[in-house]
Order: sequence, then C-alpha cells, then structure tokens
Amino acid sequence: MKVAVTTSKEDLLLISRAEAIAAELDIPYIKRRRTSLDKLRNEHNLDYLLIVEQDRVILKGATILAWHPSMAVPRLKELREGKQDPMVEALGLKPGYSVLDCTLGLGADALVAASIVGENGHVTALEADKYIAFITKWGLQNFSGQNTHIQTILERITVLNRSYDEYLPSQPDNSHDVVYFDPMFRYSLKKSSALNALRPFARHEPLTEVSLQEAFRVARYRVVLKETSKSLEFSRLKAHLVTGGRYSNLAYGIWIK
Ligand SMILES: C[S@@+](CC[C@H](N)C(=O)[O-])C[C@H]1O[C@@H](n2cnc3c(N)ncnc32)[C@H](O)[C@@H]1O
Repeated sequence: MKVAVTTSKEDLLLISRAEAIAAELDIPYIKRRRTSLDKLRNEHNLDYLLIVEQDRVILKGATILAWHPSMAVPRLKELREGKQDPMVEALGLKPGYSVLDCTLGLGADALVAASIVGENGHVTALEADKYIAFITKWGLQNFSGQNTHIQTILERITVLNRSYDEYLPSQPDNSHDVVYFDPMFRYSLKKSSALNALRPFARHEPLTEVSLQEAFRVARYRVVLKETSKSLEFSRLKAHLVTGGRYSNLAYGIWIK
C-alpha cells in the first residue's frame, strides 16, 4: 500500500504536524500547494493520502478511514441506562479489571471496555496495522468534543502498534484479567460501513491455536473471541462456551480458566 502525508491546506502548524507524522510512520510528506487531493494522489501514484486537517487526520483513497467515537456512543448510553452490553457480559468485565484488547480497529470495543473498568482499570489495545493504529490512537488522544465523560474514558486506553502474535508471548502468565479478540470475520456481514473502511488496511488472518493458547496463559480469568453467530471458529478453536447469537448476528466464544 502506497501512502503519503499531506495537509488539508497550506498552513504552517498543519505542515509541521504532517512532517512529524511522516517521520513517525516512515512515509513521505507531500507539499499540498493548491493541488486537488485526487491530482496529488495520481501525480505520486498513491493508494491513499493521510490528510492532516485542523482537528482530525483521515486516510483518503478509494475509501475514507477516519476515527469517531460514534460506534461506541449508543452502547455507552445504553450502559448508563442500565442495559446490558453483550461484549461486557461475555468478558465478565468489572471495575478495576485490566483488559488486553488484541484487535483495536477503530476502538469502539476498547472504549466500551474502558468505561466499565473505571478509573482503577486499564485497557491495553493492540493493532497490527500502522495506519489503523495511528488513526485510532490520534483520535483517542485528540478527542475534544463537549463530552468530558468520553474524554475521561479515553485516557484509560493505551494503544500499541503491535501484532498479538508477537505481543502475547512477551507477556507474563495471568498478567491481564481478560484477553479479547475481535478479528476480521471469516465471512463478513458487509453491514458496518466503519468496518468496510478498515478492510483495505486490516490484517485478515484467523486466530491461531497457538495465539489462543498464549492468550489463555496471559489471561487471569478468561479469553473471549467475537465472531458471527454461524461461525465455525468456535468449534475449530474449541470454545468452552458460546454466548449471544440467538437474536443477533454476533456471538462470543469464551475460554474460562
Ligand atoms: C474487526 S476489527 C476490530 C474492531 C474493534 N473491536 C472495534 O470495536 O472497532 C479487527 C482489527 O484487528 C486487527 N488485527 C487483525 N489481526 C491482528 C493481529 N494479529 N494483531 C493485532 N491486530 C490485528 C485488524 O487490522 C483490524 O483493525
């Protein structure tokens, strides 16, 4: 994938941010001049441009990848109203828990988990793709809406641009209360436009037995895998328990210690 950084306009502050991002991601910075984004992309033969705007960064090519808490907001509202969230139930989340989210994506699940674990808990979130990790981390760190409740929650999430395959073996036994996987589904539901935007960048490999065993070693209480309700992954990986799915397209495989 060929990607370069530019700015939404010729502005000194944006340019210095763009140059720093180019260095961090080890990709070229291209001066915007007054050229249209499509022309710039064609001239440099790029798949995507990472565009630094005044208050956000986006990846624009055939699709647009941008971070927004919108996927998590309705779930946070329902939790505040006392309703149950299937992921929270599957993980058995409690205040004070440490969560290892192995598949950050756009961070909606990490945000919901961070809201439940509270100020004494923590979410460490891994993302193998450097662009997704960057866009989500930037969004989490620079969120500045009116919603101070969300801002407090975001501070409990640490994003690492790492693959769980290499991160899990480096972790001590029982070092995270729960370990969570939400990989790209084997057969996609093709519904979520946010996930469609992730698709060109995302890692698509299935969870291996080796990584699951590592996760089980690292987890103090349980490991959870989200998949579609008809997925064969739960039987392939011998889940101890599968929840959800009766009224939903989604299900959770659980391995309890
Ligand atoms: C379905 S998305 C996760 C969505 C996320 N739960 C959310 O709420 O936004 C799956 C993500 O996991 C990432 N991923 C896949 N394999 C990975 C690996 N081995 N290590 C870390 N991240 C991985 C993909 O790149 C993708 O961004």
